[in-house]
Amino acid sequence: DVTSDLAVASTKGSKAVKRFREQKERINAQERHWELAGSNLGKLMGIKEEKEEVDEEEKVNYKDSQKFGDHMKNMDSVSTFALEKTIKEQREYLPVFAVRQSILKVIRDNSVVIIVGETGSGKTTQLTQYLYEAGYGKQGVIGCTQPRRVAAMSVAARVAEEMGVPLGEEVGYAIRFEDKTSDKTVIKYMTDGILLRECLSDPDLDNYNVIIMDEAHERSVNTDVLFGLLREVVSRRSDLKLIVTSATMDAEKFANFFGGNTPNFVIPGRTFPVDIHHRRAPVEDYVDEAVKQAIQIHLGAIDGDILIFMPGQEDIEVSSALISEKLNSLESAPPLAVLPIYSQLPSEKQAKIFQRAPGGIRKCIVATNIAETSLTVDGIFFVIDPGYCKMKVFNSKVGMDALQVYPISQASANQRSGRAGRTGPGQCYRLYTSRQFKDEMLVTTVPEIQRTNLANVVLMLKSLNVDDLLKFHFMDPPPQENMMNSMYTLWTLGALDNAGQLTDLGRTMADFPLDPALSKMLITSAKMGCSEEILTIVSMLSVPSIFIRPKGKEEEADSRKEKFQVSESDHLSLLNVFNEWKKKKWSSRWCKDNYIQAKAMQRAREVRGQLQEIMESDKLEIISSGTDWDIVRKCICSAYFPNATRLKGIGEYVSLRTGIPCFLHPTSSLFGMGYTPDYVVYHEIIMTTKEYMQCVTAVEGAWLAELGPMFYSLKEQALTYNERIQQTIRANETMEDELKSSEAQKVVQSERK
Ligand code: CDP
Ligand code: MG
Repeated sequence: DVTSDLAVASTKGSKAVKRFREQKERINAQERHWELAGSNLGKLMGIKEEKEEVDEEEKVNYKDSQKFGDHMKNMDSVSTFALEKTIKEQREYLPVFAVRQSILKVIRDNSVVIIVGETGSGKTTQLTQYLYEAGYGKQGVIGCTQPRRVAAMSVAARVAEEMGVPLGEEVGYAIRFEDKTSDKTVIKYMTDGILLRECLSDPDLDNYNVIIMDEAHERSVNTDVLFGLLREVVSRRSDLKLIVTSATMDAEKFANFFGGNTPNFVIPGRTFPVDIHHRRAPVEDYVDEAVKQAIQIHLGAIDGDILIFMPGQEDIEVSSALISEKLNSLESAPPLAVLPIYSQLPSEKQAKIFQRAPGGIRKCIVATNIAETSLTVDGIFFVIDPGYCKMKVFNSKVGMDALQVYPISQASANQRSGRAGRTGPGQCYRLYTSRQFKDEMLVTTVPEIQRTNLANVVLMLKSLNVDDLLKFHFMDPPPQENMMNSMYTLWTLGALDNAGQLTDLGRTMADFPLDPALSKMLITSAKMGCSEEILTIVSMLSVPSIFIRPKGKEEEADSRKEKFQVSESDHLSLLNVFNEWKKKKWSSRWCKDNYIQAKAMQRAREVRGQLQEIMESDKLEIISSGTDWDIVRKCICSAYFPNATRLKGIGEYVSLRTGIPCFLHPTSSLFGMGYTPDYVVYHEIIMTTKEYMQCVTAVEGAWLAELGPMFYSLKEQALTYNERIQQTIRANETMEDELKSSEAQKVVQSERK
């Protein structure tokens, strides 16, 4: 409902953020924040900064600008950071401990159990250990899935610590492209995506004795698909225990899904009352308001840490920087440890949110939705909730999924306020009115499976021989149109044939833990003779942004970046950086000198190694095109032709398929270069005030006709936008008809049998 204030505001975004962006400080905000909030703090909290990343000159600056400098002078001794309670005491204090025996009994007596408990009751960290202590780890691995990678990593670290073992041995984790487990591992935390992929090679999951599907209420696509698959696995394997945990009251629904006798076990909670403060009138700007609110709380006398929810990384960086900045400008403000947390934050920085700030400094955690239920931080007394989150939603305007800011649901709002009442009575400041809460927020969040493109899921299910997707047992089936759209996407890429069956290409594509288009690009590159290059490009696309712009050195950083840019392609620019780095023997020094994030580069190198292994095992040739980079661009076009746009004005393009305007992003190599190719393909669209194309490559019209004949032909360039739409609809219908007739044939055949 676009007429609601919240929805309108969510599409506009924060002015404070825009202001920041316009000041061109965006890329730099994170760096600056850490500078202000203090790397000293990190050091005191026992986190070693990487030496090579902080040079002497910067260190001096830190000290000078440190508000906490004096405060921290005498704090070299670590004693202040030792937690007040021993690990054993902490474990026994958790609500789940009181019901340990009865939980183990209900698990012993049933193959599927639903466990419901407030966030922070100890489900994620304790259940695995209880099962291990009860001997379940002897017959197989105790697996625990998480919808978020950050949660999988940080929880595994915590459990390893509680058990007193090094992470990666008895306790490990696996997330995409990163496997921190070994032969010794008995407790394995992983993303739900990882377990889903494991189903491909081991449909019965024989490796596991117990599977805990944690955070099931999040209803990620992967969790929903796993529900359907595991329901079958449990019926085949009587020795497997399946535990589904949830923070909210969807438990009935889960129990029904797994059959009438599935018990619900409720962990009695221990929560304190939270006062909820709504705004009297809608707020102008959620970032500005959240910053003001945080400062106001901080300057008030009451103790207790603050938790601010922000929709995404940029809002988090900006609001963190603004809070630090404001406090620094106040003469007598007490120190505040402002700690951001979002998925792309390096893990040693993520760890900070759980640690006690030195000397009783108040903590202010600025987090994405991850802090809503996945991660519990003790000591939060104040919650600031702007009422937004980022969600992936299929956007029919651009014809693909887009990550956008939306109002949260009432259920989320209540979860968020609950975060303030874990350790004592708390306060929640909602930056919206009670009318907005009642009238403009949905009661619960729409499950991801009903709002995103499912091409990956379809590919996976097809390779698991689930032929008739419409009959797959989903808890909430995706809209049929959604399914058809996803199949259409796969058909255009050549992964499905006209009858909707997996092609050889599709089968190979499913081997890669990548989006279908990227898998296709890799496979095609072996045939086109440029797989060395494409391997690098795909790997570079799988890591966060590699360029950095430190404050005061923006121009230098920009001019370094320019040296790497290839005027016709951002993809080739990435390839260029990687190749140069390789020539410099993977040197971190070189990265630093060139304002490139060394960690991200190392990660890309690891990812590349893993993808190369998959290619080799699929007998795909690893071969370089040498200096011929045109073939690399053509290969990119072979996978990204659905995202083709045609030049309209300076920096402005128009989508060939949907007719909507798309713009070159200011960070693109093609931006402002005076070189404006007629056609470009893009990796993705990011929507801010305009539709910006992210990561762009110039292509030739003839390639589009050759590689994407279902969309384009040479003469077709004369077609109007409407004619082209009609053509797409017709192609869609043809496929549907063929699908239907092949389904009908199947029915006839099986009846004959
Ligand atoms: O899963 P659930 O929300 O029920 O609770 P949990 O994540 O197992 O958290 C139990 C306790 O462990 C909380 O008090 C957390 O603060 C603590 N914890 C921690 O200190 N460090 C972590 N990385 C994870 C949890
Ligand atoms: Mg949990």
